[in-house]
Amino acid sequence: DEALEIRASLLKWYDENQRDLPWRRISNSGGNDHDNEDVEESERRAYAVWVSEVMLQQTRVQTVIDYFNRWMNKWPTLRHLSQASLEEVNEMWAGLGYYRRARFLLEGAKMVVDEGAGFPREVSALRRVKGIGEYTAGAIASIAFKEVVPVVDGNVIRVLARLKAISRNPKDTATVKKIWKLAGELVDDCRPGDFNQALMELGATVCTPLSPSCSLCPISTQCRALSLSKLRESMLVTDY
Ligand code: ADE
Repeated sequence: DEALEIRASLLKWYDENQRDLPWRRISNSGGNDHDNEDVEESERRAYAVWVSEVMLQQTRVQTVIDYFNRWMNKWPTLRHLSQASLEEVNEMWAGLGYYRRARFLLEGAKMVVDEGAGFPREVSALRRVKGIGEYTAGAIASIAFKEVVPVVDGNVIRVLARLKAISRNPKDTATVKKIWKLAGELVDDCRPGDFNQALMELGATVCTPLSPSCSLCPISTQCRALSLSKLRESMLVTDY
């Protein structure tokens, strides 16, 4: 059916076109999904995803790369971060803005380490950590722990609104709710983290706000907005 095709095309495209980003080197275990995957490794990935997603919330990928690498050099694990001071964290964050996010990361790290129960692995548990909202919880749970949950950011809203030709204001809460629901129905059971990242990546690199590159899009044949625009074009009479 249609969802199956969308998943397959999107994941294939992601495998061939994903950007080489430092947090993916940790977060990608090369497609191996052994059930008994090392807990330590998945927790290292969770930490890297957490740091990178918080940094990416209002900052472009190109800028985040250097900040991320410096951060991980200084605090390679959650345990290291939990022993940092607020001053150190703020200093490392300088230039990224929204210092509250850095403080939440520190407080969240302390909270998780103090509780001593390991990294929370599910959205419901992650949501209880300081500074982790629905977006970050979904990203960590799906990318690091393979929970089958959606992740919706501005890019995903645009991609899915176009795919389904949802013409309501994309910032409207009802629309956003609808998109979360849609994303939840679409997310791939076997590779939820890659699927979510593929949608974000598609929005960032192909399905861009102005003049999207539909000719490069792996799911253009399923795109309602594209077929509507073609239909509209075909009805323009230019040739009397
Ligand atoms: N933007 C924010 N997080 C991202 C991710 N994990 N992959 C691609 N683009 C992103």
